Amino acid sequence: MTSLSSSNASAFQPLLNLVNVSLEYPDGEGTLKALDGVSLTVGAGQMFSLVGPSGSGKSSLLAVAATLVRPTRGLVSIDGIDVTGLKGGKLTALRRDKVGIIFQQPNLLASLTAAEQLVISDHLRGTRLTEARSKAMELLNVVGLASCADKRPHQLSGGQRQRVNIARALMGEPKVLLVDEPTAALDHERRSSIVQLLRRVTDEFQLATVMVTHDTEFVPLTDAVATMRDGRLTTPALIAA
Ligand SMILES: Nc1ncnc2c1ncn2[C@@H]1O[C@H](COP(=O)(O)OP(=O)(O)OP(=O)(O)O)[C@@H](O)[C@H]1O
Ligand SMILES: [Mg+2]
Repeated sequence: MTSLSSSNASAFQPLLNLVNVSLEYPDGEGTLKALDGVSLTVGAGQMFSLVGPSGSGKSSLLAVAATLVRPTRGLVSIDGIDVTGLKGGKLTALRRDKVGIIFQQPNLLASLTAAEQLVISDHLRGTRLTEARSKAMELLNVVGLASCADKRPHQLSGGQRQRVNIARALMGEPKVLLVDEPTAALDHERRSSIVQLLRRVTDEFQLATVMVTHDTEFVPLTDAVATMRDGRLTTPALIAA
């Protein structure tokens, strides 16, 4: 099995575990294998980068890991819970409590301030408003945006919007962070600072992070890299510290 646990196996706590996962879509007469026997283990504080050509299955892997799409075969577990058997409200609750998702476009609500974007997402989870507000300010501070709490998306740069997006994904205190091309819309300097931020929050909050990226130059900031090709994952290469 593909694992980032190299030396200290007994202390290794996999937060995200995919075992022999396949995902098939009907395609005319036959089926299209978006994922073909993918296995992957990511532990707390580990950041994994996923590269590969367009259409190779990278977003499909994230969708399955995020429990947004149920695999055709195989096992997905998050924080020790087998999610493949979960349905309905239990699955939604697990996703809400354990998974943070960051896409290329921040998808912020135009009428809300940076702080409100975070507060709303947490309040919808049932957190009390006062608590959600103080958590939002803490996280805006973590992503370097404390002074922008009252700004709306049109008053923020692309990089700042992506930072709000990252802070929002952290509001639910996830265990697993799934990130799909977070830097594609940004210039070089901002791309670099976003990947550095993802590295920092992975360490600080002990997340299991999987990042799909075309920026191979940022791969050295992560712990391991693997390539998707035709739905298959190569054995991850560990990045030397
Ligand atoms: N909902 C769907 N229904 C049918 N086929 C799908 C669906 N989603 C993805 N696919 C197919 O699965 C394969 C993998 O797609 P996926 O989006 O995972 O690729 P990707 O590696 O993320 O590509 P890109 O780099 O362009 O984002 C592709 O052939 C795609 O057409
Ligand atoms: Mg994709």
